Amino acid sequence: MANGARILLIIGGGIAAYKGLELIREFKKRGHDVRGVLTTAGAQFITPLSVASLTGDVCYTDLFSLTDEAEMGHIELSRDADLIVVAPATADLMAKMANGIANDLASTVLLATDKRVLAAPAMNVRMWLHPATQRNLAQLKNDGVTFVGPDSGEMACGEYGPGRMAEPAAIADAAEARLKAGGTVIPLPPGTDSRIDKARPAAKAQIAAKAADVPPRIAHAAKNGPLAGKSFLITSGPTHEPIDPVRYISNRSSGKQGHAIARAAAEAGAKVTLISGPVNIPDPPHVETVHVESAREMLAAVEKALPADIAVFAAAVADWRVATSAKDKIKKGPGGPPALALAENPDILATIAKSRKRPRLVIGFAAETEKVIEHARAKLKKKGSDLIVANDVSPATGTFGGDANTVHLVSADGVESWPALSKDEVAQRLVKKIADAFKPR
Ligand code: PMT
Repeated sequence: MANGARILLIIGGGIAAYKGLELIREFKKRGHDVRGVLTTAGAQFITPLSVASLTGDVCYTDLFSLTDEAEMGHIELSRDADLIVVAPATADLMAKMANGIANDLASTVLLATDKRVLAAPAMNVRMWLHPATQRNLAQLKNDGVTFVGPDSGEMACGEYGPGRMAEPAAIADAAEARLKAGGTVIPLPPGTDSRIDKARPAAKAQIAAKAADVPPRIAHAAKNGPLAGKSFLITSGPTHEPIDPVRYISNRSSGKQGHAIARAAAEAGAKVTLISGPVNIPDPPHVETVHVESAREMLAAVEKALPADIAVFAAAVADWRVATSAKDKIKKGPGGPPALALAENPDILATIAKSRKRPRLVIGFAAETEKVIEHARAKLKKKGSDLIVANDVSPATGTFGGDANTVHLVSADGVESWPALSKDEVAQRLVKKIADAFKPR
């Protein structure tokens, strides 16, 4: 799960609620996005503020909060996740879930969801063993809910037996296993429709901005900038193609040019998704950055990020990978160096430019060491892009890894050569050119 998953964590009321906070940390550590719902009883043990601080998002508590409903309705909240995790799942929450009772935010979300649910029960041993709870457990399992724990041990109330909530790492393992098993969406019968995703785009944007703590300048650009309302996809950096678990094939791209373009596009008000290979520079602010390693991962991430209005392919994708990378470190031996058979990687730019989901504007780069414009012209045609930004990457130019770049814009209209500029200036000029192409005529 290179990208991480979106997890909605419902924290019920019980002494184990404090482990819910550790669970948020554990999910975050593993690269997942967490949104938190805290029940009224849960709020007796931990505060909404601690949940919000750890998730970096609003903590949802109230079914009838006008603010929450305006920002993200409870139905949308119930669907805008890959998995719902209930931890601690108290006897009360389990009973509501098993009987379809929806009288607060948590139970309403659980009834309205079309996503898989994982529950981590926590309660007193007698409550756990009570026939009513065991009936509810059987019913919920029958309904497709999966469970982790409870563990046995000494309880906060002093009794001993099953009822302790599983440890956060075990819950996170179970959640990842559930996500890996796939099928996270529970289908509706034919003739029904629950497409609410498009229902509240403004609300989604608002909540995302709130979570990301967007400064007024960016918020203003998102409304009034030349790329306001446009979705912008960009690849950047190199790819790593594994030879064995410790070695890889790669190139000298630093990600500076691609990241600068992502930054400039966000400043111009676009909603930017950056798919980055392994680089040593920070993620640009106010940009959704997806980290990948190999060309095939990059292609998958790009496809997942579509549709987009604009796509710029600045990544230096390895053209080849080792056909079969070794599971263990390859050892030196008397037989001499290993023969590495190579396989061709997918061409991400060409694949997207020729796909049904082709963005309206597709821009590629060409990294050349000779006949820069001639090769760029050939790439424009072969890859099906609208524009190629050609640059000379001969070692003497310092383009790879450096802070400056000299580019030539090659399109069907001809060639436009820019002087040597900083990579930031190249990015700003390119983004301006893109915005001009989208200006109403
Ligand atoms: O990262 P920096 O250090 O700042 O350096 C910037 C840069 C030199 C990497 C950048 O300006 C640049 O030229 N990026 C493209 C590098 C490259 O791979 O060029 P190419 O000529 O091999 O590929 C042509 C185009 O096809 C590129 O848009 C590339 O992203 C794309 N491609 C290539 C191979 C492949 N398998 N999939 C692709 O999408």
